[in-house]
Amino acid sequence: MIRIAPIADVPPETVDLLLDQAFGTDRRGRTAYRLRDGMAAVPDLSLVALQDGQLIGSIQCWPIELRHDEGAAALILVGPVAVRPDRQRDGIGKMLMAAALAAADARGCEPMVLIGDPEYYDRFFGFSAGPTAEWAVPGPVERHRLLARLRPGQDVPAKGTLGPRLGADAHRAALERQAQ
Ligand SMILES: CC(C)(COP(=O)(O)OP(=O)(O)OC[C@H]1O[C@@H](n2cnc3c(N)ncnc32)[C@H](O)[C@@H]1OP(=O)(O)O)[C@@H](O)C(=O)NCCC(=O)NCCS
Repeated sequence: MIRIAPIADVPPETVDLLLDQAFGTDRRGRTAYRLRDGMAAVPDLSLVALQDGQLIGSIQCWPIELRHDEGAAALILVGPVAVRPDRQRDGIGKMLMAAALAAADARGCEPMVLIGDPEYYDRFFGFSAGPTAEWAVPGPVERHRLLARLRPGQDVPAKGTLGPRLGADAHRAALERQAQ
């Protein structure tokens, strides 16, 4: 039986190994890592899939923001989502995504963003590149892979720059520095 558990239940180095297997050891240079640089993962949205005590999948979510002219909109970055290569295409990715999205929806959390294949994240989970078309990103990104998921009634600014969630004070200080 596959069990979904908090990521804190497993040693961090086992998650690192899984991510190396799924994405390669050069994964830390990816733009998604820059988006959440210095942030700690959101505990209740960061999960693992376990079978017979073995780690077979993981998902992590991070606090980020979209900085714009009038402030910063809080968002949640989803990812990496990783399934052990020998267990891919067996429903484990869907289980992890469904569990994280259900937890996020249950506590009415911020709009969610990820960089990934729309053929997977749009088709199964309703993430779309529409809202992100004019967002600036600190690194290379294929525009059609920068995706957002808004619950009914949620909105995001059309323009802005994505980055780690530094909060309103840091944003205001940066705007003041720019203006000087
Ligand atoms: C992408 C990933 C998380 C999907 O998890 P998974 O457990 O392998 O996939 P699931 O069993 O949940 O889903 C299977 C379905 O999704 C489809 N699918 C899986 N990965 C896909 C992808 N990258 N693009 C498009 N479709 C994909 C399968 O074709 C299958 O469709 P079907 O139901 O019509 O047959 C996993 O394959 C993985 O870790 N890949 C390597 C790392 C990666 O690329 N992560 C995504 C970027 S964050």
